[in-house]
Amino acid sequence: MKQNKKNQLSVISFQSAVFLFTFYCLLFTITSCNNVPNSPGWEYMPDMYRSPSYETNSSNPNFSDSLTDRKPVPGTISQGWIPNSEFSSLKVPYPYKNDSLGYELAGHNLKDPFPASAEIIDQGKVLYGKYCIHCHGATGQGDGAVVTVGNHPPPPAYNGAQLKNLPEGKMFHALQYGKNMMGSHASQLTVADRWKIIRFVQTLQNPGGIVAATVQMVSGMDSTKKENVVKKKI
Ligand code: HEC
Repeated sequence: MKQNKKNQLSVISFQSAVFLFTFYCLLFTITSCNNVPNSPGWEYMPDMYRSPSYETNSSNPNFSDSLTDRKPVPGTISQGWIPNSEFSSLKVPYPYKNDSLGYELAGHNLKDPFPASAEIIDQGKVLYGKYCIHCHGATGQGDGAVVTVGNHPPPPAYNGAQLKNLPEGKMFHALQYGKNMMGSHASQLTVADRWKIIRFVQTLQNPGGIVAATVQMVSGMDSTKKENVVKKKI
């Protein structure tokens, strides 16, 4: 009798265990589903899959215009764009392509914004001594240490037939992209520094020439003032 009651009890508890198990399975299945087709249901650490930040172009309750994409802060300068340079009005880093047409256009259009003043030429000379002298040589004859010691082919002399009349815009273009054996100097030198070096290179191009006369003419001026900028023609 006692044994029977015990058996009965264990059958009931087994039945209720099966019932409870089925019930929880069903409950789990039902609650794991939802009717949003793109939702995978429950996720383990959802932040790892879905960033809590606002998506580009999505609407945003934090701003009165509800746009997530914000305008740059006034005065923001895009990378490569140099304010107060001749390219700044174009809002592009450098407008000429690295091809022969770009070279010609640069030669025609680009003018050195700095005067050929003694001060600017001196600054250009210092920079030349750091970035150019080892190939082009102190007097621009193409006899720098890279050539004399390193036995590399010499660059043409600045005052030789090939470069004597090279316009400043073409020089700038060559510094921007490099030319044949000469690498680009765009990452080493700012636009302003490149123009200063060009002022010095011109003194090597035409030693005792027009540049020297221009130096005389503007040497008393403050080269940092915009109205003193001289557009020199060679
Ligand atoms: C690694 C050596 C080397 C360095 C450094 C170098 N140059 Fe040159 N440069 C050359 C060679 C070689 C040429 C000849 C390129 C050609 O026309 O084949 C050249 C050509 C030029 C030209 C003539 C470009 C043209 O349009 O024909 C100018 C101007 C010039 N260099 C200026 C500079 C200035 C300024 C610097 C320093 C900022 C400099 N170079 C640094 C090797 C160099």
